[in-house]
Amino acid sequence: MSGKKTKSAGVLPVESLSHAEAAAELARLARDIAGHDRLYHQKDTPEITDAEYDSLRRRNEAIEVLFPELKREDSPSLRVGAPAAPTFAKVAHARPMLSLTNAFDEADVRDFFARIRRFLGLAENETIEVMGEPKIDGISASLRYEAGVFVRGATRGDGEIGEDVTANLRTLAAIPAQLAGPDPPEIVEVRGEVHMQRADFLKLNQSRIAEGEPAFANPRNSAAGSLRQLDPKITARRNLRFFAYALGDIRESRGVGPRTHAALLQRLEGWGFAVNPMTALCTTVDAALAFYRGVEDKRSALPYDIDGVVYKVNRLDWQERLGMVSRAPRWAIAHKFKAEQGRTVIQNILIQVGRTGALTPVAELQPINIGGVVVQRATLHNEDEIARKDIRIGDTVIVQRAGDVIPQIVAVVTERRPKDSQPFAFPKVCPVCGSLAIREPGEVAWRCTGGLICSAQAVERLHHFVSRDAFDIEGLGEKHIAAFFTDGLIKSPADIFRLHDRKEEIAAREGWGDISAAKLIAAIEAKREIPLDRFIYALGIRQIGQATARLLARHYGSFAAFRKAMTEAAADAEGEAFQELDSISQIGPSVAADLVGFFAEPHNLAALAALELELRIGDFISTAAQDSPVAGKTVVFTGTLMTMTRHEAKAKAEALGAKVAESVSKKTDYVVVGDDAGSKAAKAEALGVNTLTEDEWLRLIAG
Ligand code: IVH
Repeated sequence: MSGKKTKSAGVLPVESLSHAEAAAELARLARDIAGHDRLYHQKDTPEITDAEYDSLRRRNEAIEVLFPELKREDSPSLRVGAPAAPTFAKVAHARPMLSLTNAFDEADVRDFFARIRRFLGLAENETIEVMGEPKIDGISASLRYEAGVFVRGATRGDGEIGEDVTANLRTLAAIPAQLAGPDPPEIVEVRGEVHMQRADFLKLNQSRIAEGEPAFANPRNSAAGSLRQLDPKITARRNLRFFAYALGDIRESRGVGPRTHAALLQRLEGWGFAVNPMTALCTTVDAALAFYRGVEDKRSALPYDIDGVVYKVNRLDWQERLGMVSRAPRWAIAHKFKAEQGRTVIQNILIQVGRTGALTPVAELQPINIGGVVVQRATLHNEDEIARKDIRIGDTVIVQRAGDVIPQIVAVVTERRPKDSQPFAFPKVCPVCGSLAIREPGEVAWRCTGGLICSAQAVERLHHFVSRDAFDIEGLGEKHIAAFFTDGLIKSPADIFRLHDRKEEIAAREGWGDISAAKLIAAIEAKREIPLDRFIYALGIRQIGQATARLLARHYGSFAAFRKAMTEAAADAEGEAFQELDSISQIGPSVAADLVGFFAEPHNLAALAALELELRIGDFISTAAQDSPVAGKTVVFTGTLMTMTRHEAKAKAEALGAKVAESVSKKTDYVVVGDDAGSKAAKAEALGVNTLTEDEWLRLIAG
């Protein structure tokens, strides 16, 4: 319930949020933004566009302005980027690596100049010189040189602590191992942008696709992914480049440091770094804006991606005085380009099936060149998005590329809609395996229910099936599963237990042999016996994690009982079996729907039947509760309890092996009646179920 509420609050204007809604919304935004940060910075697989991400952050900040007391300790506004990924050593930057405030239009740029004038107390006629530079769409890095020698290189990380990627950075031709020229500083941190040229990015993606690896979304992610390789040999092959544009820490005893940013850039060049050639000193706002337009005109012809220009106050003493606010310097601003757009026609809408079974609609476009890139597809996200924009096959649409390879549909040009066009009907079956698709309340995605047989999901599911907390079959990693699946050795889980018939075939495969094939078969044979809770977990039903699997195993006791109850519940959503499932404490309607969806699918039943022939699925035995007086009993608590909360009472009962239900039925063993108990107590009476007072219950479990 509360999940739904926060979701709908997400579209309310910030000003109309109640205190409670604002708090819930800030919690949601903190969680979502952190998730997107991880996808973007650590996994290099963003799920939303930069523009969507920016708007989440802006909404978070707007709510914090209105409700400052609700600002969270984990607020995204306190963080720059994502925390460092765990695979590299951590490096503390001698000076923090900052982010930049964004300007989206001319007025924002004029404000920037006015703010500086006010802050420094400059007269109207005093010139503020800024250096204009392209904003390179890559990943920033900090390079530490001691006595002119490159000793350490790090990513930005959270701005304070980054990842040590020294070995990888050493492989870049554009990063000198030693600073050129005489008298290097004792210590200097050179900062700049690691990036990949578009042509290199496209080539890399082609070979990744050929090898069955996921493609990178854009050159930026591809640069980030290449820099964060554990093996520097891989980085070396990726042709990464580097533009230097700033200093972090600098300590030098001899000579005077540069006084302007322009002089600093010259010094960087003198040391042997590439500095972007399109820089310009601008002495007025209008000159800065002209610089912006000039760079924008050249944008699509550049070999690398840029997403705006950066203006930096040229005088370093002024930079010092201006300092910074929260995550960004006051002396610099990024003036972002508008996303590149074009107009084309939707020829078809395809449905892609992800590895988790989510059905994603994709528009096939009449190919169009947007900013130098040919665009043929756009993601449509989900059913609601299509309905909201009323996107139809045959529509003329405005398409936008925001630095990403997967472009977005901004709007439909309704005047050009064909007369006979029909709203798009989202398919209710999986296009890959033909199984039923379901969409749960509160979810945006339709999902294929053919988990075990859908080839789009099969490898992932099979991998889960043999994973440590499930069947725990050693020597059957994801790579082997994928290969066995492709070659038809394993199509469904039961096939794993029939591999012994194909031992020779396995032994003959590349990289195998008699010994490893025999080992694998032995590892499989050792797992023919499995406890019920592990088995349920292994099925990989959505939302059924280990804890829920254990709960179900405890409740139903045996696989036969579980399967019977689930198939009955699937057949009749009003029937007793469904009600029993629904009444299990901690099983909500959405979990129940996922379970029932799984058992409603004949393919899954067939896969289960095949498994049953191969396995011995043990009855659930709760270790803690084997000889407790309430083991296996079904208990309902009702009314207010005096010595414990309802929650505590349930936890205690479950720990003793009882099943706690929410509603009373013939199968209930005890109803524990507290104060002000209502209809449940009456129902127990009517059904002749044992009722106990709280005291009696306590004595029963103590005894
Ligand atoms: S200056 C103190 N200059 O943009 C400010 N940053 O959105 C440090 N970036 O983290 C950054 N081109 O990764 C600066 N010419 C440029 C840049 C640039 C790209 C990146 C950099 C920074 C991010 C902020």
